[in-house]
Amino acid sequence: MDVPEELLRRLTDAAERAARRAHAPYSRFRVGAAVYTDRERIVTGCNVENASYGLTMCAERVAIGRVVAEDAGKPLICAVTGPTDQPLTPCGACRQVLLEFNPDMVVVCTGRSGRRLVLRAGELLPASFGKGALGVD
Ligand code: THU
Repeated sequence: MDVPEELLRRLTDAAERAARRAHAPYSRFRVGAAVYTDRERIVTGCNVENASYGLTMCAERVAIGRVVAEDAGKPLICAVTGPTDQPLTPCGACRQVLLEFNPDMVVVCTGRSGRRLVLRAGELLPASFGKGALGVD
């Protein structure tokens, strides 16, 4: 995956800054995401928890929602980071949402160690249900 190192760093830094803005008073587990689009926009998200726990929004889905609402373009790369030793990989629901917008999206996962795991959205959710099943292009 030919993503320039400088862009990877910029996205990971943006995700780390977003994580600091998380609203996570229940889990205290702060996650940040930064999406890079084909319009060269960087759109961030953080997890937003709620006292009614099930209403919690994950960082990746907040970021993707902002991309759509701001008409920021097609997501090409999504960096995600959290307070784990190993690279933090998106939860199942977020994988499905990332896939919706681009199965080839490059997902760059990091944690505290700085080790990077880079996968495509389609690789994170194989044999998935998608728009093709509904006859939508
Ligand atoms: N979380 C995310 O923001 N993204 C993920 O991919 C995994 C989990 C959040 C949800 C919740 O606020 C906290 O992390 C603990 O699960």
